[in-house]
Amino acid sequence: MLDGRIQSVMSFVMFERVADIGADHGQLSIALIDGGRATKVIATEKNRGPFDALRSNISAAGLDGAIDVRLGDGLQVLKAGEVDTICIAGMGGALICRILDAAPDVLQSARQLILQPMNAVNETRDHLRTMGWAIDDEDIAEAAGIIYEIISAVKVPTAPKIFKRESSPLRREFFLRRLKKLERVRDEMSRSSCARSSEKFSALAAEIDALDRICRG
Ligand SMILES: C[S@@+](CC[C@H](N)C(=O)[O-])C[C@H]1O[C@@H](n2cnc3c(N)ncnc32)[C@H](O)[C@@H]1O
Repeated sequence: MLDGRIQSVMSFVMFERVADIGADHGQLSIALIDGGRATKVIATEKNRGPFDALRSNISAAGLDGAIDVRLGDGLQVLKAGEVDTICIAGMGGALICRILDAAPDVLQSARQLILQPMNAVNETRDHLRTMGWAIDDEDIAEAAGIIYEIISAVKVPTAPKIFKRESSPLRREFFLRRLKKLERVRDEMSRSSCARSSEKFSALAAEIDALDRICRG
């Protein structure tokens, strides 16, 4: 049974050729093929232990033909044009950004990124924007009592879109949706005194406050 975090990552996949970077147990890769969301998956691992486990899990699932398992660092084991969607889940935001930066040709050839950073989520969002990617959707998922943020991004075809009219109804809708999502995260976090005293909680409260003002105004 897939947990909510992996289900959420999977639900964002738009294209049939997918890379699962740092695949570890291989649950996402296997579910992508079993669930018919992908026809080809390249599952990668940097470390030998998880790589061996990944290979045997994929063999046990009878998916050797559909999932190509590769040992190596980040996107460096991919060739440009091999996949359209790249998933990187369960790693720190800074590591995810480093992985993206290290293979510009592979990144350039991809059409969608699905990222689930374990921390530094705002920094990851900022990094995506500076690299010319636009966040097209986000989700919040829960697994074993922990809340995770999942980001889907697509390549910005030209220059990033600028809202010329402050009163654009789409802009307001966008902020309203984000506000609702962040309020849900805040409510979940409020249940834990540890989460309530975290820097993330303060940053979240500040962003909710700012969004609230925009939406009222
Ligand atoms: C916490 S696990 C997450 C596994 C899976 N992606 C998930 O979301 O459940 C992180 C995995 O990434 C692998 N990893 C760390 N750095 C990596 C890198 N630079 N390239 C590929 N894999 C990496 C680790 O070996 C580990 O198996």
